[in-house]
Amino acid sequence: VLNKALSSNLIIPDFQGFCGEIKKIYEDLKKVKGGKNADYIPQLSRVNPNYLGVSVCTVDGQRCSFGDTDIPFCIQSCSKALNYAINVAEHGPGFVHKFLGKEPSGVGFNQIGLDKNGLPHNPMINPGAISCCSVLKKDESLADRFDYATNEYKKMAGEEFIGFSNATFLSEKSEADRNFAIGYYLKEHNVFPENCSLFETLDLYFQLCSVEATADSASVISATLANGGVCPTTKEVCVTADSVRNTLSLMYSCGMYDYSGEWAFEVGLPAKSGVAGSIFIVVPGVMGICVWSPPLDELGNSYRGILFAKMLIKKFAFHQF
Ligand code: DON
Repeated sequence: VLNKALSSNLIIPDFQGFCGEIKKIYEDLKKVKGGKNADYIPQLSRVNPNYLGVSVCTVDGQRCSFGDTDIPFCIQSCSKALNYAINVAEHGPGFVHKFLGKEPSGVGFNQIGLDKNGLPHNPMINPGAISCCSVLKKDESLADRFDYATNEYKKMAGEEFIGFSNATFLSEKSEADRNFAIGYYLKEHNVFPENCSLFETLDLYFQLCSVEATADSASVISATLANGGVCPTTKEVCVTADSVRNTLSLMYSCGMYDYSGEWAFEVGLPAKSGVAGSIFIVVPGVMGICVWSPPLDELGNSYRGILFAKMLIKKFAFHQF
């Protein structure tokens, strides 16, 4: 395989063969029913549960897509990994981890609680993500903070589709008692930076959760993380390699919430799930994948997205292309 790879100069020499196997997994998944759309955010409950898209982008820019890969969806908690990466690239891990920890919480993504240091456990669950948003360009206006974050997302997506669902933002904000409770709890425990506006922080968090991508554009984001922070399609340096290293570590240990241990055991790849049914999967040094299927399992991860990852590993863990 190494000789073939060296001669072909492609990270996956038989990429067509690889895509053929991905297509077989996709076709099998289309027959699977299971899970239920998120219903606590009204807009998410109305999305067609039959949507299924799988998109791959390698670190040398090879692409393949199957199914609904050009349909916009809200990235929701997948934004948490991106916000953390951007923050660490901007401020360095030392500063960012004054406001959040690095440990799995072992509980659901929206549980209220702090670690032994009085900080949110990690940036991949709601308490840590809200704290992470409080740091993001904290001295600028909310408009400029939103622009900054979404422009960084666009760079990581190779300038492919990144949108915004105002309806989802408004509906989420109107149904967010739990997140407001988390915000007040963090404020009560002095987690936020000085002079932080809780309401502005929560608005930024809800807005970044309501940013839209497609499986195609999200696979490029995942590939940028797989490629040490350099977008494989534009060659633009988006985030620092050190920031990517930290981000992938926390995606690996915390990205799938209280399924993260099982995910590490069964799949073993850095990943981040979102409540609209996306999973961003990173194969470091090789490729990024986005699988999107709205119905969720009982832990809040995409039912068919989890199955896809397990089928992927079963097929390729020891296969040589
Ligand atoms: O704050 C929330 O509840 C949502 N905006 C994000 C949660 C989420 O995506 C959980 N992922 N499975």
